[in-house]
Amino acid sequence: MRTEQPAGPHVPGGPAATAVAHPNIALVKYWGKRDEELFLPRTDSLSMTLDIFPTTTRVRLAPAAEHDRVTLNGRPATGEAKRRVIAFLELVRERSGTAHRAVVDTENTVPTGAGLASSASGFAALAVAAAAAYGLEQDATALSRLARRGSGSASRSVFGAFALWHAGHSGGTAAQADLSSYAEPVHTAGLDPALVIAVLDAGPKAVSSREAMRRTLDTSPLYEPWARSSTDDLADMRAALRRGDLDAVGEVAERNALGMHATMLAARPAVRYLAPASLTVLDSVLQLRRDGIGAYATMDAGPNVKVLCRRTDAGRVAAAVRGAVPGGSVHIAGPGPGARLLARDGR
Ligand code: PMV
Repeated sequence: MRTEQPAGPHVPGGPAATAVAHPNIALVKYWGKRDEELFLPRTDSLSMTLDIFPTTTRVRLAPAAEHDRVTLNGRPATGEAKRRVIAFLELVRERSGTAHRAVVDTENTVPTGAGLASSASGFAALAVAAAAAYGLEQDATALSRLARRGSGSASRSVFGAFALWHAGHSGGTAAQADLSSYAEPVHTAGLDPALVIAVLDAGPKAVSSREAMRRTLDTSPLYEPWARSSTDDLADMRAALRRGDLDAVGEVAERNALGMHATMLAARPAVRYLAPASLTVLDSVLQLRRDGIGAYATMDAGPNVKVLCRRTDAGRVAAAVRGAVPGGSVHIAGPGPGARLLARDGR
């Protein structure tokens, strides 16, 4: 792979495209890959795409450039973040048959790397923008598969509101396995949910989700039981969404997330993302339920806690969470839109 230079002022312009995508929060989690290269997960997962924290990405082909240039919030991207974007561009180039390097500018409004799924919105936006700039005509299912190759959870951010990511199968060739794993929208009846997001630590995580998943799969005696119970959780979740039963959705989401964290705690060495403040928020969620409010917690690869509730209860839930962790910031999200192209020129 070629190395890149820092972002500079002059690169003659080729076709360009700009896309926006939102993060998603899994209610039945993706935790563990069965194929690291193709980003094929062990289990199906299901998420809600948010209406806050969008990522906007512009991809412009630079026919005269020798290297890709990648910026994140106006600064040259470095390290692993840059490597992953360039690896993704290589895949798009291979598929489009266009060797041109690109200039990729990303504006992230979600704190990067804090377990708030910036990679989901990031790679969903990049997939849509890069496909358009390189002239790859893709429907939403194909875009979901493509986004998956940047970050598994990005496959779900291609769709708005609720999305189910199929683990797919690995029976035949690599190409067949790749085709079998994509997300699709899940329809819900009469649900008006909110996710109250407590950002307890916006710093980068100590262990990447990729490394934590690998370690969990390799060493945790609790992984297989969780993966098996996740199948039941998904069936229960789909039934609860069909009924529009917020409390059942929340109960399944909470048990699935706690189970996922249990698998990591039992890994060797243990991976522990939850901080004391996370447990304080979990206590406040229990207290809300004792007070008769339907509030249910879910946590990802970081200390932040997201609390699912009815939209009409979101203000009260947010106040309780704020009171529990005065140092944190609290955001209220509803179901948001899927990834979409904002602009396209030169093609
Ligand atoms: O796609 P990644 O590597 O960001 O995986 C994230 C996995 C979790 O956020 C912990 C769960 C999920 O399903 O999003």
